[in-house]
Amino acid sequence: MKKLIAPSMMCADFEHLKAQVNALDAAGIDVFHMDVMDGHYVPNVALGVEDFKAIRKLTKTPMDIHLMVDNPDDFIAIFAPMKPQIIYVHPDTVPMVTRTLANLKDLGIHPGIAINPGISFEQVQELLPLVDYVLVMTVNPGFAGQPFLDYTLPKIKRFVAVQDEYPFTLFVDGAISPERVKMLSNLGVNGFVVGTSALFGKEQSYATIVSQLKEQ
Ligand code: DX5
Ligand code: ZN
Repeated sequence: MKKLIAPSMMCADFEHLKAQVNALDAAGIDVFHMDVMDGHYVPNVALGVEDFKAIRKLTKTPMDIHLMVDNPDDFIAIFAPMKPQIIYVHPDTVPMVTRTLANLKDLGIHPGIAINPGISFEQVQELLPLVDYVLVMTVNPGFAGQPFLDYTLPKIKRFVAVQDEYPFTLFVDGAISPERVKMLSNLGVNGFVVGTSALFGKEQSYATIVSQLKEQ
């Protein structure tokens, strides 16, 4: 299956945002990954409304929002009018996550769940019929440039094993290097959020890197 590459835009060079977005689009990326944090659920802030609006103006390519916040319903109300294609919520952040996911569907936004390293497959299994995307965190959420957490691999294999039974597309997020794209795609993962480990701050062009990642 075609690999999907989602650049983590918190790692982009915002001094040259237009050139960055154009180069990433020309390189053939699939989704712009927008990390939104509240400084409480995770001890960082990353991107905001103006960053989303700025990128939305520059491209027609799908954009997702990864909500690492304590109150995702409030953030959905803020971002939904800007029409992200996908919104990921962490199920542990909202008491009635099934209502939140149904609300996203009603808004015409693909619902996704983001699964922390400490959250098990079993804890979210009931949600799988309700989502179009599953984002398995392979680092503790909140910062780029962290080490990959190997203990998430058995859980990733569990999601791969059922992905044909449910409508979700599986992505991984965190410390995804080119070598890990190869290893994880051999396991059956198709979606990769890439930041500083594979894409940003490298010598090669985005076009070279993205085509290599897609060939892995
Ligand atoms: C982690 C972030 C991602 C990612 C960044 O919360 O969601 O943006 O880790 O990419 P790396 O880990 O490759 O720098
Ligand atoms: Zn993310």
